[in-house]
Amino acid sequence: MSAPRENWKSKLGFVLAASGSAIGLGNIVFFSSNAYQYGGGAFYLPYFVALFVIGMPVMMVEFGLGSLTQQSFPMALRRLAGKRGEFVGWFSIASALFITMYYIAILGWGVGMMIGAFGSLFEPGVSAPFAPFSEPTADASAMVYFFDLISTWNPLLYIVLLWMVNIYILRQGTHTIEKAVRVFVPVMWIFMILLVIRGLTLPGGFDGMMFLFTPALEGIAEPTVWKGAFSQMFFSLSLGLGTMTAYASYLPKDADQVNNSMLVSFLNCSFEFLAGVAIFSLLFAFALNPAGSTLSLSFFVIPQGINELSNTPWIVRLFGFGFYLLVVLAGITSSISLIESPASALMDKFKIRRSKALMYIAIPCILGSFLFALPQIIDSGLTGNGTLGLTLLDITDHWVFNYSLLTVGLLEVIMMGWVFGAERLRQSLNANAKLKLGRWFTLLIKFVIPSLLLLVIILSLIEEWPLYGSNYDMPGYSWLTVFIPIFWIVTTSVFAFYLSNRKPKTA
Ligand code: PFF
Repeated sequence: MSAPRENWKSKLGFVLAASGSAIGLGNIVFFSSNAYQYGGGAFYLPYFVALFVIGMPVMMVEFGLGSLTQQSFPMALRRLAGKRGEFVGWFSIASALFITMYYIAILGWGVGMMIGAFGSLFEPGVSAPFAPFSEPTADASAMVYFFDLISTWNPLLYIVLLWMVNIYILRQGTHTIEKAVRVFVPVMWIFMILLVIRGLTLPGGFDGMMFLFTPALEGIAEPTVWKGAFSQMFFSLSLGLGTMTAYASYLPKDADQVNNSMLVSFLNCSFEFLAGVAIFSLLFAFALNPAGSTLSLSFFVIPQGINELSNTPWIVRLFGFGFYLLVVLAGITSSISLIESPASALMDKFKIRRSKALMYIAIPCILGSFLFALPQIIDSGLTGNGTLGLTLLDITDHWVFNYSLLTVGLLEVIMMGWVFGAERLRQSLNANAKLKLGRWFTLLIKFVIPSLLLLVIILSLIEEWPLYGSNYDMPGYSWLTVFIPIFWIVTTSVFAFYLSNRKPKTA
């Protein structure tokens, strides 16, 4: 007899963990910069289509897979859709590993900023000219601080620290995850609500909210806006990487996954909007321009706003520290789920102990995270990205963020719709649901979602030439723009092929 599967102590524990997975850097860092890039109110319609037509139904599929089979993503797909299903499952696990590596690198910079809040990051009342890679000066600004930070080896230390925290939280699975999220998730909400209140009470802050919420129709005909909204939704709801299935596999078979999906999506998107309001009110109040890379917004535009919040240094420092603590906490409740997904897959397939699975994941991934934090300077003029690590991260994120998640989403929906059967899936979900899914669900899973995802993937692939990053000025490293997409697709596929062809261990 194998040991019984671990489980969540309460439904609350599961909801906190799943919403903690969903709420993360995606809500704070990526949402605002995507919403800005795609035109504020113009992002709206695609966003809501992405939420109701794709996000929530795919979450029902992923939760359903977990609780119906009591298995993690690859094994659940194998059971319901055969060996090809398992291939898709491991493909998503490989993508989760890639994302974990750079996700934790970004969190490492978040830790650096947190520490900087009590150092030279904020110099209230003083604004310095932007001089990247200069020696730290007495009147250091956020940009100077950030680029000084990432051009040192310190983030590598923070990465090790974050990996240790993640492993510590995951050491006894649901038991220890539940303990952590019961504290972290409420704290995140409280901090975010405080930020919103402060933002909206700033003179001009309200205009920022209006920019975000006034619907605009331009841009709706652009495929890139739709791709942006779909990828953002998948990432934000933690879909396409096996995490939601892993978490749901620790629920009883008769869990109401329709209700759970609605609840978790609602919590995630509410938090996302609150973050948008907090950030846009700050930007509008101080006329800050968030244009630039995704990360620039959080790492040097927002701090400039925080710097202006008050003339009293300790208030600024406290706000700054609070903001980055929020980013780090939200990030940790997501990164644990990103690690739990491959860990549970390895435990299910090879019947190994949790500690061993965590070790197999952590050792290569810590090295991967290091790569993304490499401080070598490519171009001090910053026409590219600043450091080698940041450039690697930016290009890898472009491919994995935009394509892995949507491709897995497409394939899993096709398998559930056509191999397992959309109607059968609807009935299994309905068997335990208070609010029953109508026939529209079958149509969505079989036709609408696959067509939309396929369309968006093809249209965005067509626009991929010249390759992402080829306009960066990075002497000696321009081959990276070709190498990274090839490396990503080859390693992910080989990994998936190898693991799906290994015989599962029967306990
Ligand atoms: N949803 C997380 C965020 O918004 O930051 C990131 C994430 C976690 C994506 C887990 C995917 C995942 F499986």
